Amino acid sequence: MSAERLSEKTKSIPKASGGIPLIGNTVEMAKDPAAFFLRCYRDHGPVYQINVFGRKSYVIAGVEAAKFMTQKSKRELLRSKEFWEDFRIHMGASKLLTGLDGPEHQKMRSIMRDGFSPRALEGRYGDAVGLADKALDRDWLSKDDVEVVEACQFMIVQILGDLMSGKAPIEYVRDIRLNILFILNVLVTRQRPKFFLKFPSFKRAQARVNEMGREMIGDFKERTKAGKLPDNLLGDIMRAHGEDPDFIQERDLQLLLTGPYVAGLDTVANTLAACVYGILKTPGVLEKVQQEADELYAKGSIGEEDIAGLDYIHGCIKEAMRLWPIAVAQMRVTTQDVEFEGHVIPEGEMIYIGTSVPHFMEEYFPDPQKFDPERSAPERREHMKPGVYAPFGRGPHTCLGKNLAELLMAIAISRMFHRADLQLDPPDYVLKTKSAPTPGPAMSFKIKVAGERNPKQKIQAEKEVA
Ligand code: HEM
Repeated sequence: MSAERLSEKTKSIPKASGGIPLIGNTVEMAKDPAAFFLRCYRDHGPVYQINVFGRKSYVIAGVEAAKFMTQKSKRELLRSKEFWEDFRIHMGASKLLTGLDGPEHQKMRSIMRDGFSPRALEGRYGDAVGLADKALDRDWLSKDDVEVVEACQFMIVQILGDLMSGKAPIEYVRDIRLNILFILNVLVTRQRPKFFLKFPSFKRAQARVNEMGREMIGDFKERTKAGKLPDNLLGDIMRAHGEDPDFIQERDLQLLLTGPYVAGLDTVANTLAACVYGILKTPGVLEKVQQEADELYAKGSIGEEDIAGLDYIHGCIKEAMRLWPIAVAQMRVTTQDVEFEGHVIPEGEMIYIGTSVPHFMEEYFPDPQKFDPERSAPERREHMKPGVYAPFGRGPHTCLGKNLAELLMAIAISRMFHRADLQLDPPDYVLKTKSAPTPGPAMSFKIKVAGERNPKQKIQAEKEVA
């Protein structure tokens, strides 16, 4: 393309309105990024420029952006590396999945794909329910009120940790959380300056997470020697390290082995907490959730089909991910001039892909602010329209744990509403949210535990019974 034509087209990309001198759109975006991207989409169309902390970036959004992201021919036009590079260097790792692109990225994904799939739960549904019970007994049923986000973080670490390594690092949950908070804010989204990493609270949390990582590496090396690596993600990582130590290097092990906690903690806990709010807040929903959960646990044994078949509960989870997406936009850098919807975004520019914008558009989801689990019922299937629903992102970095996450969340929601009588406190409570580092309900979101609905009973996995 000639330089003249390029500059003509580039110039025509609109600048987001409402900017303030020096800080541009920073305040509006920080307050509610989903609403900001939607407002700009309505005002300017599917591509526009924004100014965050004085730095210019581009946004592509809407179903147009979703379609662009799913085209194989466009894959090489965007790169993830730049966003994760500071974190990779900070950790002294040679690579990390989210920061790889192209063939190396595909190679890493293929090593981890199976481990992040529902295979982690195969034959272990009974165990997973027992682990949810452990968390419910400790953090929910023994209390009058519960801080929902934190209690969900403990529950997910309890389940993931035990399933993956036979030991849940419960005592490290707060350290993992603080570590993620600082690393995402300072090194990835760069919403906070680098000197934040000198805060003693971060240094302590990081030292604790390093200690947890060292323990896991030691434990898995022992298991390698004894020929007792488990048939799961962590086993796959250690096997790949043994077979190709130049690719999975010794210095990468800590990030890789602790990765499931980092990938699963905020994402699942924020979504579960949002789901709890939607269920308790929306008239008529709680009763249907309780009925579906009670029917499930009336069976003595459960398998993947039972959990996947919790249609109403999955409808609630889908609504939580639509209304409170943990990734409002995906961030990339253009590897060459990128033509999009008749405009050209120049090479080397930072770009946000606003895949969640259609989640809030009445064209696709009538009465979009309503938490309505029946949207995904067969006669409506609103989420299935092309390009309108992307809670797990789009393109080559699409969430690798999405099927596992959906099953884990359905186990957690069904079990908590089967066992506990939960209520909003006060009943007209309106959810407060946070936007950094991962958008979702505020840590202060509390609910009342009014009592126990059903005592715990041992559930077996179908395989154990067969
Ligand atoms: C509510 C639950 C979850 C949501 C909404 C979610 C969402 C996402 C999104 C949007 C991305 C893409 C980020 C990007 O393109 O920049 C992603 C990536 C990823 N997620 Fe999830 N996630 C969830 C849970 C999980 C869980 C439980 C795991 C594993 C235990 C997991 C593992 C991963 C991995 C490994 C990637 C990186 C993929 C890559 O870079 O190739 N996620 N997730």
